[in-house]
Amino acid sequence: MAAVQELAERTKSDAKCYIDPAVGKDDETADGSEAKPFQSLYHALLENLDKPAPTYLIRVAPKEGSSNGPTWEEPAKAAVKKAIGRVDAYKKKLAKNQQAANKEKEEQQQRLKNLEDAKKIVLKEDPSLPAAVRIKLNNKSVELGDETKKGTRVKVFGRIHHLTIQKNTTFIRLKDGYGFLQCVLQGGDLTKTYDALTFALETSIVLYGELRKVPEGAKAPDGRELQVDYYKVLGAAPSDLDAITNKVSRQSDPWEAAMLDNRHLVLRGETASSVMKLREFVELAFIDTYREMQITKVSPPAMVQTQVEGGSTLFKYDYYGEEAYLTQSSQLYLETVIPSLGDVYCIEKSFRAERSLTRRHLAEYAHVEAELDFIEFDDLLQHIEEIISRVVDKVLADEKASEYIKLLNPEFKKPSRPFMRMKYEEAIEWLNKQDPPILNEEGNPHVFGDDIAEAAERRMTDIINRPILLTHFPVEIKAFYMKKDPNDLRVTESVDVLMPGVGEIVGGSMRMEDWDELIAAYKKNDIGHEAYYWYTDQRKYGTSPHGGYGLGLERFLAWMAGQHTVRTCTLYPRFMGRCKP
Ligand code: 4AD
Ligand code: MG
Repeated sequence: MAAVQELAERTKSDAKCYIDPAVGKDDETADGSEAKPFQSLYHALLENLDKPAPTYLIRVAPKEGSSNGPTWEEPAKAAVKKAIGRVDAYKKKLAKNQQAANKEKEEQQQRLKNLEDAKKIVLKEDPSLPAAVRIKLNNKSVELGDETKKGTRVKVFGRIHHLTIQKNTTFIRLKDGYGFLQCVLQGGDLTKTYDALTFALETSIVLYGELRKVPEGAKAPDGRELQVDYYKVLGAAPSDLDAITNKVSRQSDPWEAAMLDNRHLVLRGETASSVMKLREFVELAFIDTYREMQITKVSPPAMVQTQVEGGSTLFKYDYYGEEAYLTQSSQLYLETVIPSLGDVYCIEKSFRAERSLTRRHLAEYAHVEAELDFIEFDDLLQHIEEIISRVVDKVLADEKASEYIKLLNPEFKKPSRPFMRMKYEEAIEWLNKQDPPILNEEGNPHVFGDDIAEAAERRMTDIINRPILLTHFPVEIKAFYMKKDPNDLRVTESVDVLMPGVGEIVGGSMRMEDWDELIAAYKKNDIGHEAYYWYTDQRKYGTSPHGGYGLGLERFLAWMAGQHTVRTCTLYPRFMGRCKP
């Protein structure tokens, strides 16, 4: 009732405000005049909140059969009450919002003031403390303090990896590329400086303090924590929209262009950096194994004028007016040095201008290639199985490397030997025998001569679920240099190693030995042989039965580290977000 009275009190001005529920508008095209009425009483009341209250008039449709036009009437009491109730609610909400905004502003001012005040707090290293020993975070030989004794006072450089801020304590999980350390800032001015109030993930910092065992029941890397007594920020990181957590996230798909564009930040994460650390172990395991096998490391050129694996995937460039390429494989160069160096290998980059928006193709990849002299095809297969097994053994035998594997791919198991061997022709039968059959790219059953496409190959590998040495591919689908099988001239002495989850990780073969046959092969493949004279000469100056293989390091790593795609196995998968679709 009070509401109606209030309205009555206020309807004292002469002004009139018109409301037409049928054609009125509750927006800026209406002004409450008879020509431009509002649509609702509620809106009319809101529009008049700060003005002397007008008389409200609502349009009433003429009675049926009446010849009079529409009439304007004052609203019914119930309608007024309802509208005023809504207006009151609206006013309350407005007041509450205003209050919240004021509070936020006050707090912001307080924060700014705190920050300004904080600038006055300057930390000083206590000269009475023992001199700090600089350590990397993987150094575990440092004495830890506990209830009975003091720990070593150390100095650690790194970046903030995790940050937990409590009322009087700030916890920093520091990383330095060698390990992680829990650092505790407690008491005094340590948590009150300007730097402490603006700590952000990735801020680089040096911290000083006593290294202690973590208290009973608490967890921290290596069971220790730094009781910080002094620190200095060396490089602040943003905590606003530019904060690293706004740029990249663990949940994001590594295929996203944004994740590639921000690869430099993705690499700061634990998973990406663990893969990179593991990559080094894998590469070193290859180097060690080759060394044990007396295979010499060489370094062939990346800038070449010869193709190896077909012209369609060459990266071309201009070499002082001549066409040249980034190498697809170092194989040809390896072949030329076996007469003088014996068995050789290299770990160099290879380049392929091919579809790179797949799980296993990179434009630039690390290629482990070896060439073995005076061997037969079976020796090559034995060797490939041996090298893979020994590298896996070495990686697993290393405590740190096997920790990374456990973290990245806890399911990983060393493959049992001997690896399965399967001829290409048997694979074709196997694919067709499945129920339903695994079809070729045209959607037909496979026939001899088909390239086994990536999808079919991976299905087969995943179903068989163990490494396969797939051999004897048809001449037509393989590179020009491959030696034919003397027992079946339709096929080559060639091998691909297929791994579950990844597919092909190795491609290799015996090489053509005969000069005439090689010249014919260039012709058949439309390759001008002039540029290859130095390679062809091998067949003139004491040819030999020899063969070799190339292994994609990123694919091998993807297999061991359980990575869904090779792109997460490399520092920079390509020019930031760009791939060849
Ligand atoms: O099978 P491919 O093309 O064989 C050769 O290049 C031989 N000339 C090697 C030799 O005999 N020395 O390539 C060998 C391996 C593949 O099995 C695969 O692991 C890797 O190189 N590879 C790629 N890895 C990432 N991205 C790409 N685009 C790759 N292309 C090949
Ligand atoms: Mg291949």
